[in-house]
Amino acid sequence: MSGDPPSPRLELAVGDITSEQVDAIVNAANETLLGGGGVDGAIHRAAGPDLLAHCRTLGGCPTGQAKVTPGFGLAARWVIHTVGPIWHGGDQGEPELLASCYQQSLARADEVGARSVAFPAISTGVYGYPMAPATQIAVNTVRSTPTHVDLVRFACFNDEALSAYRTALAD
Ligand code: APR
Repeated sequence: MSGDPPSPRLELAVGDITSEQVDAIVNAANETLLGGGGVDGAIHRAAGPDLLAHCRTLGGCPTGQAKVTPGFGLAARWVIHTVGPIWHGGDQGEPELLASCYQQSLARADEVGARSVAFPAISTGVYGYPMAPATQIAVNTVRSTPTHVDLVRFACFNDEALSAYRTALAD
């Protein structure tokens, strides 16, 4: 049958992304893919050392791109590692690179047949991207990217993210 697949159902979840019962969780990684703090640290702790060992074989990941790995000790079958832009004020391509993270993550999900995906608020922590525009880009990009993923859950680690996503979804 021709025609684009329908858009994914969008949900909000409060709390730690590592406990999400979805096919794939997205990691806000850095270009080395060798772990870090924030959600990267939480995912590596929950997945166990096999994740890092596997990531060592991947040769890193450029900003705006995404690579998929098994989830190892996580409930999720896969981890999609994407590298968000570091915020430098917004005129160095940050919005386009952030949108690309969501597009590429959905593309990796489609390649492995993941039908449910949880995203953290990419770049809004250590990388300093302001929450409101970042969550608006997240929602707009997921809504406009053709994908076979039928459930996207935005994992909110704090009230700031939760209210920002609510505003973005209402637009
Ligand atoms: N579950 C869900 N969300 C989380 C979790 C968690 N366990 N921990 C942090 N977050 C949220 C933060 O509150 C923030 O809103 O994820 C968002 C992204 O924050 P970071 O994890 O700091 O990621 P980012 O801003 O993209 O910076 C990436 O940080 O951890 C390092 O190795 C990583 O160098 C990379 C950089």
